[in-house]
Amino acid sequence: MSENAPLLPSSADSPPLAGQQRKRPARTILVVLALIGACIFVGIKGENGLLPKNPMKRAQYFLSNSPVIDGHVDLPELARVMYGNNVDEFNLRKKTVGHVDIPRMKRGHMGGMFFSVYVDCVEDGPDFLLPTNRVRDTLEQIDVAKLIMERYSDVFEYCESATEVRDAIYGGKVAGLLGVEGAHQLGNSLGVLRQYHALGVRYMTLTHSCNNAFADSAGIFEPVEPAHGGLSSFGKDLIYEMNRVGILVDISHVADTTALQALELTRSPVILSHSDARHFNNISRNVPDEVLRKIGSGKGKNDGVVMVNFYPAFLLPRGQKADVKTVADHIEYIASISGKAHVGIGSDYDGVETVPEGLEDVSKYPELFAELIRRGGWSQKDLAGLAGENLLRVLEGAERVAFDMKKEGKQPSMAVYDKRTDLGNGGEY
Ligand SMILES: *[C@@H]1O[C@H](CO)[C@@H](O)[C@H](O)[C@H]1NC(C)=O
Ligand SMILES: [Zn+2]
Repeated sequence: MSENAPLLPSSADSPPLAGQQRKRPARTILVVLALIGACIFVGIKGENGLLPKNPMKRAQYFLSNSPVIDGHVDLPELARVMYGNNVDEFNLRKKTVGHVDIPRMKRGHMGGMFFSVYVDCVEDGPDFLLPTNRVRDTLEQIDVAKLIMERYSDVFEYCESATEVRDAIYGGKVAGLLGVEGAHQLGNSLGVLRQYHALGVRYMTLTHSCNNAFADSAGIFEPVEPAHGGLSSFGKDLIYEMNRVGILVDISHVADTTALQALELTRSPVILSHSDARHFNNISRNVPDEVLRKIGSGKGKNDGVVMVNFYPAFLLPRGQKADVKTVADHIEYIASISGKAHVGIGSDYDGVETVPEGLEDVSKYPELFAELIRRGGWSQKDLAGLAGENLLRVLEGAERVAFDMKKEGKQPSMAVYDKRTDLGNGGEY
């Protein structure tokens, strides 16, 4: 019962008259019965009947039941860039220089997050064959994410499945999952993808801001010159293998051509781990309506989830100030096309240099929920979906497809990047 429910009447200020004294037990029973009846009536009338009226209090109440699972947090990148991945050098129990620490996570009702294990994508060379340290660096980012979860194991619980996430949240923990932010981190190898899965990676963005051997990128503010016209044939093999092992296909950052082809090809629901609507800001990095229309419930649609990015430079054209209302506008717009069951939150915290007014860090998620409650039309179930349930449904969908494909006897892909000359070349051994 909420704080708005009527309180039982106190009898302390009733005058002690003999006649009334005798009647009081019967009258009290009647009053109590009437109150119980009113409570039941209000309860039946609607789920909102017993909830706090104040939007912020209501948001806090909803989030205490269904906390936020953020689809994209760059804490490992902050650890790498600021502290050389030395977890002795920073303390998440105190306010950090970034947007994420334990006290603020608690205040913001954070129930889980994908740790982005990102390394950058510059200098690929022709045919994306220039040797790089990206696989090493990705392993280091996976390592630092796990070191953080281990160091603060009273707070975090490392998870590899939707069930584990639910159990972690039920146990009062913050579920931690791993997401790779670009197929450039694979070293052009599906074997590496399989091993990332074995290490716990549960989503991979098909590209970052550069094209790679698998797919074309959106670039950021301007499109990049396409290399494949969407997915390469090796990129199609990649989608199959991601579906088969159970790594979510993330189409944030990709060219529209890549997104549309991936949606055609994937058996699993997709995610956009941190993307905004192009409707409000016509930049290539944002999602066009054409892609949003392919995501939703029902026949011919991908059951995926579009998780809204808080980065002001994506939310609005240059020079315009973004705030909580701007993020709510994006969520409502995406929901108007894809449906409320297909929105989520992918803040990009710790990965961006500016943040919207009122959404400065992980402690502020309730502000966004309060804004949507103020606007109306968002049920408790809708908001639980936005907070994390939609993402968990999609993760379960990908788990189911992986299970089915194995049951059908689908074999690991033996596809090799055709520009590589170092494999199977018959040389000395
Ligand atoms: C958005 O930008 C693209 C590329 O710069 C341009 O072709 C298109 O006309 C723009 N759309 C709108 C609605 O301004
Ligand atoms: Zn990103």
